[in-house]
Amino acid sequence: MSALGVFNMANLNGGQKLGMKYLTVSLALFGVQILFGLLAGLQFLVPDFLFGIVDFSVNRTVHVNALVVWLLYGFMGGVYFMLEDEAKHPVVGLGLGNLIFWVLTAAVVVVVLVYLLVQVGPAEMSTIWLIIEGREYIEAPRWADIGIVVSMLVFFYNVMATFTKGRYTGIAGVLVMDLMALAGLYLAGMAYTPNISMDQFWWWWVIHLWVEATWEVLVGCIMAYMLMETMGVRRKIVETWLYIEVALMFGSGILGLGHHYFWIGTPEYWLTIGGFFSALEPVPLVAMVVHALFDSGVHKMKNSNHPALGWTVGQAAGNFFGAGVFGFMHTLPQINLYTHGTQWTASHGHLAFFGAYTTAVIGFFYLVAQKTRGNVWMSGNLPGNGWKWKWAMAMLWIGMIGMTVSLLIAGYAQSQIERAIEGSTWMGYFAAQGHPWFTQAMTWRQISGYGFLIGYILLVWDLLTIGKGETRPAQVVDTSIALKH
Ligand code: HEM
Ligand code: HEM
Ligand SMILES: [Fe+2]
Repeated sequence: MSALGVFNMANLNGGQKLGMKYLTVSLALFGVQILFGLLAGLQFLVPDFLFGIVDFSVNRTVHVNALVVWLLYGFMGGVYFMLEDEAKHPVVGLGLGNLIFWVLTAAVVVVVLVYLLVQVGPAEMSTIWLIIEGREYIEAPRWADIGIVVSMLVFFYNVMATFTKGRYTGIAGVLVMDLMALAGLYLAGMAYTPNISMDQFWWWWVIHLWVEATWEVLVGCIMAYMLMETMGVRRKIVETWLYIEVALMFGSGILGLGHHYFWIGTPEYWLTIGGFFSALEPVPLVAMVVHALFDSGVHKMKNSNHPALGWTVGQAAGNFFGAGVFGFMHTLPQINLYTHGTQWTASHGHLAFFGAYTTAVIGFFYLVAQKTRGNVWMSGNLPGNGWKWKWAMAMLWIGMIGMTVSLLIAGYAQSQIERAIEGSTWMGYFAAQGHPWFTQAMTWRQISGYGFLIGYILLVWDLLTIGKGETRPAQVVDTSIALKH
């Protein structure tokens, strides 16, 4: 980046430089995700588009795997970026951390190339080891799984050792425990068993417990740091909120896992456990909204980075609607019986991933853009009235809401026609797929997807240019206001 003369890396510490590498790859993979999402979406409208070259299954795999990887890179980048500042100590084992970055990135490239060029293999263990494992979201072959676990251990070591040698804050404590859980859970997704019920049972330990427990906590830590950095919220306040949110999140999220155990062959008591605990999952998300709005209000929205604050408040709202409201809608077994595995699920999946995690990583991109420009002004009165960040934000949100609503309508048609009226028959499936409510919704999803792409292009353009040539220093945030509450 510095070679491009775009960013000034000289004023960054070692952890921040490494964080920048992760964040750069993260932003690029976000683009890859969108591209393959658009290809998969187009195949709903033109089924033989690229048939036999890159089939829907391949596009879908790349789309969702890129999603998981770019968000993980975003989180890792964010953690490396804040690490030295939070610990008040240089990153321990930075050389190893840098090495692992290159190893991991090379592995990701190889895995994607194999997905695209080899695609499938015989039903043998060699396919699981070398080509694809076939577990949605974590399809990476076994060799890559091992590499990912090793990388996570190095990442964990960097974080834990740096906090131990430096300052061990409340955020540090939560982060270290959380990363341990995050790395440990990945192992559950590696156990292969030919029994599909057992396989799904463990697979959900990664998928559900990541996004509804450990990732939520990780993002809570990153957001806590953002609130302190951009608004000067007092540490005691953010850490107290963090503890409350973590307690509620684990309290409901762990047994909330049961909402994926309704129909996979697990005992019937999961209907009650899953229904009850997952219905409580929105509670911590409400706490997060209150937290972000309360702090913004107390500080009268005065902050050193307007785009970052915009995305932070958007994170709280998006997390609440996407995960909380859209998740709650289909989490009771009585309802899930009809909505399970329809586009209703995809509607929730899109808004939740975007609302809870994409927003957080984009907010962090802006914080990083500011620091790499030498901590310049990024509050109001930006050149051009900051139209690029505002339009990027508007187009990404409009595109995402458009996709979510379209998918919800398609999912409604499926639940109604395929499940309720036709009683889940094979014919019922096709009756729903061919119904105008379904097909028109798919068209609108695609149109909204193009809007989303425009938002992404504006975002990249803005991130590369915002703060360039700016001479005003960052707005000073008044930490003393925080003392009054
Ligand atoms: C940020 C947090 C969340 C994310 C990123 C997320 C994402 C997803 C995704 C991608 C799926 C589809 C999984 C598949 O491929 O089968 C899913 C399924 C589901 N989610 Fe969430 N979710 C979140 C939080 C929640 C919450 C809080 C609830 C409940 C209150 C919930 C309820 C459900 C249910 C019931 C399903 C199963 C849908 C089905 O039966 O097909 N989710 N979620
Ligand atoms: C240009 C925009 C996008 C388009 C056109 C698109 C399209 C698609 C398509 C066609 C699928 C497969 C659905 C199926 O199997 O029926 C899918 C799955 C998925 N996409 Fe996207 N996508 C886009 C952007 C995003 C974004 C920004 C996110 C998250 C931040 C995301 C998250 C997901 C998830 C989690 C799934 C799996 C859902 C499930 O299994 O229920 N997509 N997307
Ligand atoms: Fe879940």
